[in-house]
Amino acid sequence: MKIVKTVNEVREQVKQWKKQGYTIGFVPTMGYLHEGHQSLMEAARKENDKVVVSIFVNPMQFGPTEDLAQYPRDLERDSALCESIGVDLIFHPEPEEMYAPDFCSFVDMTGLTEGLCGKTRPIHFRGVCTVVSKLFHIVTPDRAYFGQKDGQQLAVIRRMVRDLNMDITIVGCPIIREADGLAKSSRNTYLSQEERTAALILSKTIALGKEMAKTQKDAATVIAAMKANIETEPLAKIDYVEAVDAFSMQPIDTFDRPAMIAMAVYIGKTRLIDNTLIED
Ligand code: PAJ
Repeated sequence: MKIVKTVNEVREQVKQWKKQGYTIGFVPTMGYLHEGHQSLMEAARKENDKVVVSIFVNPMQFGPTEDLAQYPRDLERDSALCESIGVDLIFHPEPEEMYAPDFCSFVDMTGLTEGLCGKTRPIHFRGVCTVVSKLFHIVTPDRAYFGQKDGQQLAVIRRMVRDLNMDITIVGCPIIREADGLAKSSRNTYLSQEERTAALILSKTIALGKEMAKTQKDAATVIAAMKANIETEPLAKIDYVEAVDAFSMQPIDTFDRPAMIAMAVYIGKTRLIDNTLIED
């Protein structure tokens, strides 16, 4: 396994692989890898000849008051995990390699990016779309792997690839959870022991919503019950709980089509997200 820091090194390697007719699977990450990332890398390993993982904490997708500086990093542990899964190449650029001082081109999206996390994080998806486009141009993969954990991000990436005719298959992978239900996240490391226990309110409430939606088709009723459930946890503060169309990410009144119930909840200072897909 190689670890490279420059765009040119990635391009050289990928060019050689393509000459030999190899297919390329790509897993973009911000590092501090856990079993959620691992599941994406394993799927990529199974379905492609070569696997590229990027590890880049992308400054452009963090708001001015967010946790960019604090975001956990551990390249040594990450590389060991990648090696053990059979990753072929890690791309680990410095911000200067990705963003020239006079950088001024962006990939922006309307509609899908305005609700849910886009409301609290107004520049987030512009940063995600821009960096993922750049990474796609650098790595030129056949397939790229994203987790349902970031359900809105997955929908946004699928739409960007369709709208901009990117010749890449997007593979969505299920949410990987801790044994007690908490969705795995690099940000779980921010939680104190007491907050870690309180954070279970997210997955428990997602399970409640999913169960209710089997028989209760009125979205507002389900969402109200979910909010009431979260409010029983003193350390939790709701950012949003919403039912949206699975493709457009627009709010729905009735569960009469593929939908997603999604939430962002502060546990103390840490903002956590969770979601589930609701089949019609
Ligand atoms: P990051 O948060 O590191 O996540 C990288 C990928 O791992 C994303 O596709 C995310 O959905 C997936 N993932 C994280 N936790 C998961 C879990 N518990 N189960 C399944 N998949 C999980 O998402 C980003 O980085 C960035 O926005 C990025 C796409 C790399 C652009 O900077």
